[in-house]
Amino acid sequence: MDHDAEIDVWIPDPYPTRALRVWPRLRGVRLVLSLMAGTEWIPGTVGPHVTICNAHGAHNVSTAEWTVSAILATLKSFPLYLDIQRSGLWKRRSEATKLYERVSGDTRPLYPPVMLEELTGKTVLMVGHGAIGKEIERMLAPFNVEMLRVARSARTEPLVHPVGELDSLLPKADIVVLILPLTPDSRGLIGRRQLGLMRQGAILVNAARGPIVQTDALVEALNAGRIRAALDVTDPEPLPDGHPLWRCPNLLLTPHVAGSSPQFAPRALKTAEGELRRYMAGEPLHNAVQLAI
Ligand SMILES: NC(=O)c1ccc[n+]([C@@H]2O[C@H](COP(=O)([O-])OP(=O)(O)OC[C@H]3O[C@@H](n4cnc5c(N)ncnc54)[C@H](OP(=O)(O)O)[C@@H]3O)[C@@H](O)[C@H]2O)c1
Repeated sequence: MDHDAEIDVWIPDPYPTRALRVWPRLRGVRLVLSLMAGTEWIPGTVGPHVTICNAHGAHNVSTAEWTVSAILATLKSFPLYLDIQRSGLWKRRSEATKLYERVSGDTRPLYPPVMLEELTGKTVLMVGHGAIGKEIERMLAPFNVEMLRVARSARTEPLVHPVGELDSLLPKADIVVLILPLTPDSRGLIGRRQLGLMRQGAILVNAARGPIVQTDALVEALNAGRIRAALDVTDPEPLPDGHPLWRCPNLLLTPHVAGSSPQFAPRALKTAEGELRRYMAGEPLHNAVQLAI
């Protein structure tokens, strides 16, 4: 944008780097309607005198589907099998058994050899139980997993534990799903101690924001063969060439794509439109993450 613009309502580009180039040219903005669920870069940019709404709900299906896919792909060793397929060597099948022995720590001779693991019956700890977390739980229901839930505040029906109980729940989970916003409280929530509390071979799934996990500690845990991980988000982002995460074992990594599908934009724009209509009618907003002071 090469000129200043006087506007009341701003729908920023979903990519913060592009949106941040536009912001200095805008004057008079009173309402920001983000097309994303995560809005962590906006308050510090626009200040406290602007109301900010997110696209609550628009990412539910796509991000939940990514999460379930990432869990199944990891349990079914799809990254290894894709590698085997590309090598064109059927005899490498036995590597899946060795992988299972390494990640589970169970080296008993099993017959037939273990090639894949089951999701059914596993214990899933969900950290964050908002719009996307509930959708993930709905999609996981047919697998009869045992659900443990954590949010900021405790509640019942279903039982949700307060985040203060996270450490006592981590050792009970086969799979830990992070689906909470990046805030000063959640930054670095999963560090060396929390990773150390996870079961041998447990899977950490981060569909939320990279800085919720301390990257150095994660690299260490993965390289030590302690846990597995599936990440859609990293810290830093973009992940630079040569970063140690790229070479970690037992890691499935996608470049922040979980929320993106052809259905996303129309859904997010519809959410923004509803919010704009309420704003113009002076009605309470549904998705305000910051009210102007
Ligand atoms: N990878 C992607 O492409 C992608 C796509 C969409 C969204 N996301 C990320 O996913 C996040 C969650 O989205 P959502 O729509 O589900 O949000 P949401 O509906 O606002 O729910 C957030 C949940 O996180 C909990 N929470 C907040 N701070 C916490 C903390 N410090 N410790 C523990 N729990 C905490 C909340 O607890 P209470 O219920 O007690 O308030 C709530 O249950 C977004 O903020 C965004 O960063 C990523």
